Amino acid sequence: MYTVPKLVDYSPATLDAAAKDLIAACEAESAAVKSDSDYKSFRDHWMARKNGILTQINDGWLKAAPKDAKRDVGARVNEIKNAVEQTVAGAEQRLAESAAKSSMTSGRVDVTLPGIRRPLGAEHPVIRTMNAMVAVFKAMGYSVGDGPEIETDYYNFESLNFPPNHPARDTQDTIFLVGQEQKPQRDRLLLRTHTSPVQIRTMEKQKPPVRIVIPGKVHRNDAADATHSPVFHQIEGLCVDTHITFCDLKGTLDHAMKSFFGSSTRTRFQPSFFPFTEPSAEMALTCFKCGGSGKLGASESCRLCKSTGWIELLGCGMVDPNVYGFVGYDPAKVSGFAFGMGVERLAMALYDIDDIQLFYHGDVRFLEQFA
Ligand code: PHE
Repeated sequence: MYTVPKLVDYSPATLDAAAKDLIAACEAESAAVKSDSDYKSFRDHWMARKNGILTQINDGWLKAAPKDAKRDVGARVNEIKNAVEQTVAGAEQRLAESAAKSSMTSGRVDVTLPGIRRPLGAEHPVIRTMNAMVAVFKAMGYSVGDGPEIETDYYNFESLNFPPNHPARDTQDTIFLVGQEQKPQRDRLLLRTHTSPVQIRTMEKQKPPVRIVIPGKVHRNDAADATHSPVFHQIEGLCVDTHITFCDLKGTLDHAMKSFFGSSTRTRFQPSFFPFTEPSAEMALTCFKCGGSGKLGASESCRLCKSTGWIELLGCGMVDPNVYGFVGYDPAKVSGFAFGMGVERLAMALYDIDDIQLFYHGDVRFLEQFA
């Protein structure tokens, strides 16, 4: 074991040699540390406040040094201190690492400990409904697209045949971005109020034939209540080709509803208005809860369709020829139809949910029912 020598003088050569011996001895002792108790006596030998080697050199070398050598001796004693501290810490770390390794290789796992529970996530009911409806159209050969949620006035309104200042714009309570007043109206940004702008974006990129569905988020300046939400989801559909007629529209949507809700479902089309379709219609389907009778059993009235037997589901129509003018299609050669449906409305009907807000609260007790 190392003992602190008396210094014969304080010359740099003597100090260097003494420091070197000391550090080498410390390293040698460190390498011999094999157990916790080895480590403890090693540490105390070098670092114990009372009579450890570091204390001894402080007293025996530094304090005993003549005034003019103090500075140099002090610096060296500091270096030695750092080296010793590092070597001691290294020994401790080596012991800890080898302990961890040996407990791993010896395979000591307590199999009676409870495991860590990792709850599985599940598709949100709105997304699940959206995907299921999209799948129906995919099976009919439709592709799936998307588009930006921040739109320009041009794509959300103008190119869909809503002229500037036309009252039809007021039916879609729009959320506009601030600071757009400098721009021409068509370039002003807003949150899209429907997925229909993606009809235009699709036709700009692609020549007919077009068959596409576009699911996505839309925004309206509506106060949240049981049937309204400022953010909701729609699925847009667009089919443009030669000789597409209203019969194709009806047949396609009727088939889609039968595949989604069951083959006994019937559809009904009533006249409506949208600036970008002509003629336009609202489509309803027979209530899948009461089968269209408005009654459950002999006398109970059906809550889902409010006893009417019908559920209003979507807006649709033949693409207005004016719209083709905005995308460079020739209205004399092509025709087509479009439709747009609210996904929350679909999910609410499907799962018999009476408050749209339940979808957005993130309450696991609600959501896990759909897992
Ligand atoms: N974009 C319309 C809406 O949000 C729905 C619609 C889409 C109507 C396509 C006709 C054709 O109200």
